[in-house]
Amino acid sequence: MRLTKLRVVFFSILFLVILNGFVSQDAFFAIEQKDVELTIPKGFPKPFYDFKKNKLTPEGFKLGRRLFYDPILSKDNFTSCATCHLRFAAFAHIDHALSHGVGNKIGKRNVPAIQNLIFKDTYMADGGVNHLDLQPIVPLTSEAEMGETLESVIQKLQNDSVYPALFKQAFGDSIITSSNMLKSLSQFVGLMISSDSRYDKFVAGKEKFNENESNGLKLFRARCTSCHKEPLLTDNSYRNNGLVPDEKLNDEGRKLITGLESDKYKFKVPSLRNVAMTYPYMHDGRFNTLEEVVAHYSDAKFYSTGYDKDLLKTTGMTESEKIDLVIFLRTLTDKTFLYDRRFADPFPYVKHD
Ligand code: HEC
Ligand code: HEC
Repeated sequence: MRLTKLRVVFFSILFLVILNGFVSQDAFFAIEQKDVELTIPKGFPKPFYDFKKNKLTPEGFKLGRRLFYDPILSKDNFTSCATCHLRFAAFAHIDHALSHGVGNKIGKRNVPAIQNLIFKDTYMADGGVNHLDLQPIVPLTSEAEMGETLESVIQKLQNDSVYPALFKQAFGDSIITSSNMLKSLSQFVGLMISSDSRYDKFVAGKEKFNENESNGLKLFRARCTSCHKEPLLTDNSYRNNGLVPDEKLNDEGRKLITGLESDKYKFKVPSLRNVAMTYPYMHDGRFNTLEEVVAHYSDAKFYSTGYDKDLLKTTGMTESEKIDLVIFLRTLTDKTFLYDRRFADPFPYVKHD
């Protein structure tokens, strides 16, 4: 008798646990209107990207999320955007100097973080793309990335058992167009906004820094912000930060786009938000640690010719200054962004048929 009662209790608990699992998974992946409201963080500039021309909706965002994580977008049906852009690394690809795409082909550049994109006027290390909606065409069609053509991707999506209905929900039309596909991707990546690191909380007066961190911030403001301008930590310009060009890659940077000799070896100043999570560093991933990066800036002996004169402010740091600067850079990690459930991979949960 007692045994049956125990069993009833046991199975009821088990039932509740399982039920709870389903309910909370639903909540975890659900996207509601409030999840797609765009709020510009305090102190941030006006965005370049205009969401009035691409209305944010839960359906549009969810479609973009699914596409971002879906390998169907690649030639081998194996490589998704998220293969290279890992969520826990602020969507960079840690531990890989150069990107790896379809057939394990090696690309020409390091995979950058994806964050605060709507505040950028151009994309890529050379600024070769000037509109967020056009950006995915590069990885989709690049031989060393996803190796596809737009026609073939659209065909695959149109023939899929779920996508036509998802496009209908998002854009009112089950005929899939590349324009709608690109818009939904922009809704997803465009809302990836990082503005809640310890540094942000310190600036807002909500958190205290210890002595090393405050000293690091002081050094950073004295030496680095002429390029890594607050609060985005980039001024969106192209600069030569003194890296000796890698002979094999011979990446000429901005010159590839403008053709100007004066732009040779200049690269877009990257934001340093979440930088502790995104190693290796620079357009070619040549440095593995922040200590190496700071050592590079500190020692003009290793600069290439043609370096930007603002680098004269970065040279000659003492060992303890270098340490404090790295400690400060770690305060730029934004856990609210890194753990934001809206950007999680929906696939283990989305049913495939
Ligand atoms: C094979 C790896 C790979 C894949 C797959 C990939 N990317 Fe990238 N992504 C990169 C690399 C490398 C760069 C930097 C390229 C450069 O600077 O020239 C980049 C840059 C970007 C940028 C620009 C970031 C900035 O701040 O300039 C965005 C946005 C982006 N990718 C989104 C996507 C989307 C969306 C997809 C899927 C459609 C995708 N990526 C697929 C490797 C990849
Ligand atoms: C003259 C402008 C300039 C100054 C000053 C400058 N940087 Fe940079 N920084 C750049 C550029 C440009 C890049 C990108 C180079 C590339 O992609 O190869 C960069 C890249 C970086 C990166 C790598 C980011 C990544 O995601 O790969 C770090 C870290 C960094 N800088 C830290 C600093 C620190 C710390 C200081 C101050 C000591 C500083 N920078 C001063 C222009 C500058």
